[in-house]
Amino acid sequence: MISLREPSLLKDQCFIDGQWCDAHSGKTFSVANPATEEVLAHVADGDAVDADRAIVAASRALPGWRSLTARERARCLHRWFELIMSHQEDLALLMTLEQGKPLSEARGEIAYAASFVQWFAEEAKRVYGDVIPTTGNDRRLLVIKQPVGVVAAITPWNFPSAMLARKLGPALAVGCTVVAKPASETPLSALALMVLAREAGIPAGVVNVVTGTDARGIGEAFTGSPDVAKITFTGSTAVGKQLLRASAETVKKVSMELGGNAPVLVFDDADIERAVAGTIASKYRNAGQTCICANRILVQSGVHDRFVAALNAQVSKLAVGNGLDNRTQIGPLISERAVSKVRKLVDDAVARGASMLTGGSVPGTGGYFYPPTVITDTREEMAIFQEEIFGPVSAVTRFDSEADGLRLANNTRAGLAAYFYTRDIGRIWRVAEGLAYGMVGVNEVAISNEVIPFGGVKESGIGREGSRYGVDDYLDIKHICLGGLS
Ligand code: SIN
Repeated sequence: MISLREPSLLKDQCFIDGQWCDAHSGKTFSVANPATEEVLAHVADGDAVDADRAIVAASRALPGWRSLTARERARCLHRWFELIMSHQEDLALLMTLEQGKPLSEARGEIAYAASFVQWFAEEAKRVYGDVIPTTGNDRRLLVIKQPVGVVAAITPWNFPSAMLARKLGPALAVGCTVVAKPASETPLSALALMVLAREAGIPAGVVNVVTGTDARGIGEAFTGSPDVAKITFTGSTAVGKQLLRASAETVKKVSMELGGNAPVLVFDDADIERAVAGTIASKYRNAGQTCICANRILVQSGVHDRFVAALNAQVSKLAVGNGLDNRTQIGPLISERAVSKVRKLVDDAVARGASMLTGGSVPGTGGYFYPPTVITDTREEMAIFQEEIFGPVSAVTRFDSEADGLRLANNTRAGLAAYFYTRDIGRIWRVAEGLAYGMVGVNEVAISNEVIPFGGVKESGIGREGSRYGVDDYLDIKHICLGGLS
């Protein structure tokens, strides 16, 4: 039973062309609370046919929305921002129920989501063109930027509101229309945002949400449609690669925010207290289900034992439980499958010689819980070193020299975020420049916000979200040569 201050925020249908509608098949799927396994809602199980209807609606709405001024679109987005913030409590509650993260983190995510809407409402007013010095007196050379058109957004369950807003904010602000598919584990957060988008005055068809379990069918409808100009996706590298391949057929623009394998390097000269606090904040945020969370903790020999002792002491005190309980610091994982994957990685590492200091066994209380865990002596050849853990497990590896640490940190196909702790100014520059990652935190792990360019290199993705660069992926550059002026 979900009890909201504003009950109309709870929706269980697709949102297409400004209307709430069942899936054309009439089918539904259930959404469960990962902390209790209780079914929260039965939601429309849309498929490719519903996705096509959404594309038609978005295509029809495009000319009207694109032709508004940036200021007019910004007015709608500012209203949407205000509505999101004024319903922060309800939206956070829905998120904790369907996703599991502690309520305090869910409140933070709602503010984070709203910040993208507000930021891009402002940024869209600053989409400038150019006048290029001419190559002949009979002509003038201009550059203008125009919205790409209909954007398809596919969003994950780990940040169900923020990842949607990080895509909708820039797309809508510059004049694109959107068809979105939220993860089937967490559709309620996306649908609640649509209630508020409509109330904010965003016209029918400008933003559409197709809920459903047929991710492949809906994804193929998006990638296969010549009317969709761009695909923006946050999720696994494997699915990102499929979407890239499928998008090649119609040569779409793409933005991909894919998996990470973030190292935290702790050098001998680090402030150990700060490094431990930062590692815990990064590693255990959202129970470790974050693309940029610490995945490999690389500690230099001189401070290894001291760091591990302090980390272990604090991790063993972290409170696990239902995110609705104010004492909870670590909520459940998203599913039983997620728990098995983490367990498999830890068991494999231990079987190959890693040592378990804390955690390892799953309390049998129902829900998809995995206890906060610390293992040491992990090595490069272990799966836990190469794969995203996506669970509350610190895997610690010892290194000797700076060059060694940097080599270990870069030994991955991922390149999203990396962190390191040192007080040496020369090392700060050497390591920051040497890390093959899109984002680097130096003595800091809280790097995400709306003003920074979020994104990765190598197999972690293409494009940047947030910041002044975040609008670029939603714009086409057009050159206009104005001739006959002599
Ligand atoms: C992610 O895990 O993909 C997003 C995390 C963030 O924005 O901080």
